[in-house]
Amino acid sequence: MPCTVIAGAFWGDEGKGKIISYLALKDKIDVCVRTGSVNAAHTVWFEGKRYALHMVPATFVYEGCRLLIGAGSNIHVGRFLEEVKETNVGNRIGVDYQASIIEEKHSQQDKTSSHLRGIGTTGWGVGPAIEERVRRTAKLARDIPELQLYLADVAKEVNEAIDAGKKVILEGTQGFMLSLFFGTYPYVTGRDTSASAICSEAGVGPTRVDDVLLVYKAFMTRVGAGPLPGEISKDEAVKRGWFEIAAGTGRERRSAPFNFEIAKRAAVINGATQAALTKLDALYPNCKGKRSYDELPQEAKEFIKEVENQIGIPVVLIGTGPDALDIIDRRT
Ligand code: IMP
Ligand code: MG
Repeated sequence: MPCTVIAGAFWGDEGKGKIISYLALKDKIDVCVRTGSVNAAHTVWFEGKRYALHMVPATFVYEGCRLLIGAGSNIHVGRFLEEVKETNVGNRIGVDYQASIIEEKHSQQDKTSSHLRGIGTTGWGVGPAIEERVRRTAKLARDIPELQLYLADVAKEVNEAIDAGKKVILEGTQGFMLSLFFGTYPYVTGRDTSASAICSEAGVGPTRVDDVLLVYKAFMTRVGAGPLPGEISKDEAVKRGWFEIAAGTGRERRSAPFNFEIAKRAAVINGATQAALTKLDALYPNCKGKRSYDELPQEAKEFIKEVENQIGIPVVLIGTGPDALDIIDRRT
């Protein structure tokens, strides 16, 4: 546990927000570094309120957690300040002084560039902001007056926390199949989304990580364009109870059954040591709200066993409903 990377296995929206917020409360996580950018929304239900977090780490629900945004991230200043206010974390959040900035012009470029049109980007401008960074002309967090209060040396802080034996989460965003390197190129996001990249964006070397927890959903979804093996129609998705609307963009999600080949490849390339499987109740409605493995119906247990056999790692956390505590925790 001490340093755990949390990554998504499919096309994002696997339920990382729920898993991370559960771990924050349950394990009392000391430090969390969020990576990626504002295009990703992590949904967290806390004290009856729903949060769609684009910037603030999903561990904010545990008041003892230091919240950090890594040097590899891109900051949307307006959204960051709004969320800090909404979650009331101004006294415990830090932004790496060398994180880069997304400006309004990047969002415009996202929406008007012909080469991006067919991809169905989220429109936040993350791709163009990364292009700007690669060109070495980007603004950084340290250049922004409104961020001075929050500036931090995130790599230093997180490595010191690991040295001190504190509990650390490196919060990945989006999913492995959206990786610029390993996903369904060109229908991908502008960065690598794998566990190694999450470490890199946070400033943590590969030898310092103890666990890679890969988050799967019991079926697959994707928003935007690009291949989705086994895709079913919207009508069929509604009938099965799989139909979802994206937390960040409000767009309809496409869906398909769980794919073992994709799941296995994600486990290998992420170096996953543990898996979480969310929304089991969407597949087997009689699992809803269950909090112990023994209570699960036989067919659900068999599905979990099959997943474990195929991906070669244990499914330690199982989601059975929207509440943060609707989780079966099989860790010893
Ligand atoms: P971009 O990341 O906004 O450039 O969008 C590229 C592709 O990744 C589009 O298909 C988006 O819908 C998808 N995408 C980006 N971020 C997320 C996410 O957090 N969840 C799900 N899909 C995402
Ligand atoms: Mg999402």
